[in-house]
Amino acid sequence: MPVNTSEVSPAPSLFSPVSLGKIELANRIVMAPLTRVRAGSSGIPGDLMVEYYRQRASAGMIITEGTYPDHASQGYVGEPGIATDEQAAGWQRVFEAVHAEGGRIVLQIMHAGRGTHPDINGGRRILAPSAIAIDNKTFTEKGEQPYPIPEAMTTAEIRAAVEDFVTAARRAIEAGADGVEIHGANGYLLQEFLSPAANQRTDGYGGSPHNRARFVVEVVTAVTQAVGAERVGLRISPEVDLGDVFETDRDDVLATYGTLLDQLRPLGLAYLSVLHAEPGGDLVQELRRRFDGKLIVNSGPFGGQTTREQALQQIEAGHADAVAVGRALIANPDLVERWQGGHPENEPRPELFYGPDAEGYTDYPFLEAA
Ligand SMILES: Cc1cc2nc3c(=O)[nH]c(=O)nc-3n(C[C@H](O)[C@H](O)[C@H](O)COP(=O)(O)O)c2cc1C
Repeated sequence: MPVNTSEVSPAPSLFSPVSLGKIELANRIVMAPLTRVRAGSSGIPGDLMVEYYRQRASAGMIITEGTYPDHASQGYVGEPGIATDEQAAGWQRVFEAVHAEGGRIVLQIMHAGRGTHPDINGGRRILAPSAIAIDNKTFTEKGEQPYPIPEAMTTAEIRAAVEDFVTAARRAIEAGADGVEIHGANGYLLQEFLSPAANQRTDGYGGSPHNRARFVVEVVTAVTQAVGAERVGLRISPEVDLGDVFETDRDDVLATYGTLLDQLRPLGLAYLSVLHAEPGGDLVQELRRRFDGKLIVNSGPFGGQTTREQALQQIEAGHADAVAVGRALIANPDLVERWQGGHPENEPRPELFYGPDAEGYTDYPFLEAA
């Protein structure tokens, strides 16, 4: 009778190494992708961003902030891009700094879809699966404004968006990234396609769960063909209600994400990252079975930031292979050392999460100076 070794071997520790595809992590604390809007109007990472990521290189792996693959897909003023060679050269400096400290870093490619505004993306068109606006406001260069009604993408525009992801991924890998993470979460373009509320298309990209998953399958497949599946991760956030995706029907969620992961499973991605309130719950663990690869979890902004106890528990309970940690790593560049030694932590300053300069960015003290 075959022995199920996952039931008999001791659970790994949060501080033990793990491999995600080709990426070897010294520990299982992964820096979650965190938009910090310090790239100016050029979208080119500069010295400040190099320093910020270098400081956090002791995390098992850093996932960069969401980065736009082409200018029209920029979702925030001050967001970095990977749309040009100059932006890639800026990222190269970041990757080199992290590698010099022994760290690992993957670039999150984020297409904002309808989650942007002409006063953010330089007056370019706003594209989405359907012409339905988010019922909310966003911060633009001219202050807070309602989200605009986007244009429903044509089939040619869908193909072009897939190509933009591929070009961005190639640029990132050529610039020295250990991998890329495709942002399929938090209500941006990919999740807009998955959502029955944001996607009301009547062609092959809308309607059934299989059709709504099609665009994400195409993006992930094309990127893996370009740079190798073992360097590609995907982030999803089923049931997380950001950007009016309204994934409220559990059966539909399971059908949509289930068919998505059934189709991605044969690719052999480096990892799947899931943002959900209950990482150990039925939905996430069923999706993990369907994916059949390495899982990173993050319980999201529900009930406060990720704590040491939560992270330890999620690994020791075997709910995931690694934990994405956001705000605690903003405030503690040396979080791994602090959590390993049970040391006190700096408190994050949320009013400075999105800001222009070093304050609340690179000035959080390290342990010896705290
Ligand atoms: C300031 C800030 C910026 C964020 N930017 C991104 C982003 O660019 N991409 C993304 O996938 N998630 C983003 N998130 C979500 C985080 O990755 C993470 O899921 C969230 O902070 C909850 O984890 P925590 O409790 O450990 O902070 C952001 C969160 C915060 C607080």
